[in-house]
Amino acid sequence: MCGIVGYIGPKSVVPVLIDGLKKLEYRGYDSAGVAVAGAAGLRLCRVQGKVAVLEETLAKSPIEGTYGLGHTRWATHGRPSERNAHPHVDCSGDIVVVHNGIIENYLSLKTMLRDEKHEFRTETDTEVIAHLVEKFFKGSLEEAVRAALAVMEGAFAVGAMSVKDPGRIVVAKMGPPLLVGVGEGETIVSSDINPILAHTPHVAFLEDGEMAVIDAAGPRFTDFKGKPIEKKIEKILWNPLMIEKQGFKHFMLKEIFEQPQVVRDTLMGRLSLDQGEVLLDETGLGPDVLRGIRRAVLIACGTSSHAAYVGKYLLESLAGIPADVEFASEYRYRDFILERDALVIVISQSGETADTLAALRAVKSRGAATLAITNAVSSSIAREAGGVLYTHAGPEIGVAATKTFTAQMTALTLIALGLAQAKGASSREGRLEVIEELQRLPHKIEKILGRAAAIEDLAKDFMSFSHFLFLGRWVNFPVALEGALKLKEISYIHAEAYAGGEMKHGPIALIDEKMPTMAIIPKDRVYDKMLSNLAEIKARSGCILAVADEDDKAIGDHVDVVIPIPATHPLLTPFLAVVPLQLFAYYIAAKRGADVDQPRNLAKSVTVE
Ligand code: G6P
Repeated sequence: MCGIVGYIGPKSVVPVLIDGLKKLEYRGYDSAGVAVAGAAGLRLCRVQGKVAVLEETLAKSPIEGTYGLGHTRWATHGRPSERNAHPHVDCSGDIVVVHNGIIENYLSLKTMLRDEKHEFRTETDTEVIAHLVEKFFKGSLEEAVRAALAVMEGAFAVGAMSVKDPGRIVVAKMGPPLLVGVGEGETIVSSDINPILAHTPHVAFLEDGEMAVIDAAGPRFTDFKGKPIEKKIEKILWNPLMIEKQGFKHFMLKEIFEQPQVVRDTLMGRLSLDQGEVLLDETGLGPDVLRGIRRAVLIACGTSSHAAYVGKYLLESLAGIPADVEFASEYRYRDFILERDALVIVISQSGETADTLAALRAVKSRGAATLAITNAVSSSIAREAGGVLYTHAGPEIGVAATKTFTAQMTALTLIALGLAQAKGASSREGRLEVIEELQRLPHKIEKILGRAAAIEDLAKDFMSFSHFLFLGRWVNFPVALEGALKLKEISYIHAEAYAGGEMKHGPIALIDEKMPTMAIIPKDRVYDKMLSNLAEIKARSGCILAVADEDDKAIGDHVDVVIPIPATHPLLTPFLAVVPLQLFAYYIAAKRGADVDQPRNLAKSVTVE
């Protein structure tokens, strides 16, 4: 939930840490801090608020050093405040630590340390790590951290340094991600790839139970017991420019506009047009395995769970197998029943969501076949799942997921087609129709994006409402869920989503002129049913905005505002319908002056429970 960055190298350390923290800020932005060490000893700067506040504070009172650690926080234990901001120090002030995750036994450790006369200054669980390292320190920071790790329980990524063992940063991982960028004469550690790319494309991904000891010579890797490890250094092909706004006001808007390319990139190399087939060999799911699959369970959180819902409909319609969607946070604690012929598909943009990872581990322990859909190469979920289908969406910085949702739906369509083809579940012509239409989607999304100004105008008219209802049916019910989530997340407007047919069972009581409805109503098998649902709203003075096919000339008679989208294959309408909803939420939030890319209380990657 928090972001960690660390640097040892020839560059000026504070700007490197600040730049890294800005790129990690999506992970948490309650408070931030840096600690640097050098000839002048250890210097700290911590603030409540965003990295920009830290930067301003440092500009007024600069600190200098030759290596250092930085942290951006999303509070778990202890409210956001300067005192609770990382890095945390031990009693002597010689040791500093940064931490992402939760130390589950921190209360008992705190009691033990207090009994040993350690003085605590914060409400955080992290502070126990600093005191533990102090307790065990006998000249080697590496050994002291290792001894501390031996008594810590929970999920954590930790970074530590001490002026008593200078020139060294020690990092360790048990749960949340930690990456080590290995440059020419410099090393940068980070919670994700983005800060590293500005310095080097060469990265080692720490596994749980691994640590790195970094000094001017570079990193050395060991396990928690001290056994040396030979780490593979991977070359990451993302380009650092991908994480700039490139003229867009917000990352979210840039990412919405990247969706045509994201669909192209996620399809690339995975379709054989001559054969009318999809190629899923990279997942390790060959035709024999696919043929044996009789059921799918899709596990995810947040926006990824909405993509999973779309996947459910695709799997049922195309592959003819039952598919269930499960919230990872619920599933992991259930007495779930998994047949031998079930395929579990875990979907996670970050590949690090704690609940999704735990659910993956739970199903794996039952011997289930697993496949991950993720955007993060070598993330925990990618590494632990039986197979991976990467979404090629590029880095997504806006906290509210947009392009990765579209990329996940693309990947799920490929899986549904792959299963259909292996099982002979739908005709070759039927599959070809979907494949051909998939390839037309980028152009159709571009057409919708070309009308963004009209949606911006609409946002002006609707930005002052306090409540919205989103309605969709069948394959667009998940799109209604996603549209409402986007509006809630970034504009803080209350929005509920319902399957159209459920409206009469409760939400209709909410309808009046103060609660507009956003309806998704392409010309599909539930079009007439949706029209009846909309008539019920109109009869109660409700205002309706409708995302509808552009050639549907009649819809204007039933609703107040029409938001046109191009017609497509009925199963693929979510790819188009979601775009105006993303834009609508974006423009409303931007006009209300909300912090679109970093909405309050949210973090992009939730690596704690
Ligand atoms: C957080 C983010 C959401 C995201 C969810 C799941 O709550 O704010 O945007 O959908 O986590 O994340 P994942 O990385 O697993 O897709």
